[in-house]
Amino acid sequence: MARLGINIDHVATLRQQRDEGYPSLAEAGRICLENGADQITIHLREDRRHIQDTDVSTIKLVTQKFSKPLNLEMGCASEIVDIAIETKPDWICLVPEKREEKTTEGGLNLLDTHQLEKVAATIKRLREAIPETKISLFVEAREEVLEKCIALGCDAVEIHTGEYARAYLEGNDISKYLEQFAIGHSLIKAQNIGYHAGHGITDKSLAPLVEQNLFEEYNIGHWVICQSLFDSLGNVVKRLKELTPN
Ligand code: PXP
Repeated sequence: MARLGINIDHVATLRQQRDEGYPSLAEAGRICLENGADQITIHLREDRRHIQDTDVSTIKLVTQKFSKPLNLEMGCASEIVDIAIETKPDWICLVPEKREEKTTEGGLNLLDTHQLEKVAATIKRLREAIPETKISLFVEAREEVLEKCIALGCDAVEIHTGEYARAYLEGNDISKYLEQFAIGHSLIKAQNIGYHAGHGITDKSLAPLVEQNLFEEYNIGHWVICQSLFDSLGNVVKRLKELTPN
């Protein structure tokens, strides 16, 4: 049985378009958990383009109410680490961040000494301040990168599935990705480390991953929010139409 983490960043993206206080992130979290989500994931970016500082503690309260984990994705910036330490999420997923990117574009480049040192220092700070919080590292399924994750002593890796998911959507061959994911699985599970996946996944591209029992956890966001529009747009229009009879 794999766990399903729902990333609700893009509910906040919609809210940030206007200053009206809706849609409510807490309500989104509640609906996800009431409908079977195993975890809520949010990404507090340095540029605060969607999730805001106060959202982190708000969502922590929602997940606590349902006895489910909060997974906080974040870069290594010191002020973000301060907020994480204050909030004590159940999980922290360290990700790379670039100001100009539309979304996280790939995994942490742990083959780069500077980035490796930054991640190691962040893990050390988090371990000292909030030892109960588990730490995952968002990385590509490359053996040399996974070896670095093992050496860093993380609790899980989250494999970047963005390229795989795009190949799937475009109808391209996905076998090389599935092979890479399977090799990564053997390497990571031999160390008793968690093997998670995230980025770009849709209901369709999820299926082959689940079929091969590759991952223990999937974190899915953008597609969930997009599909939710179409699953309920008709109902919302009908409701308004009833209020405006001819
Ligand atoms: N996992 C990580 C580490 C991410 O950075 C993201 C995007 O914020 C996701 C999962 C969810 O990706 P998507 O929104 O494309 O489903």
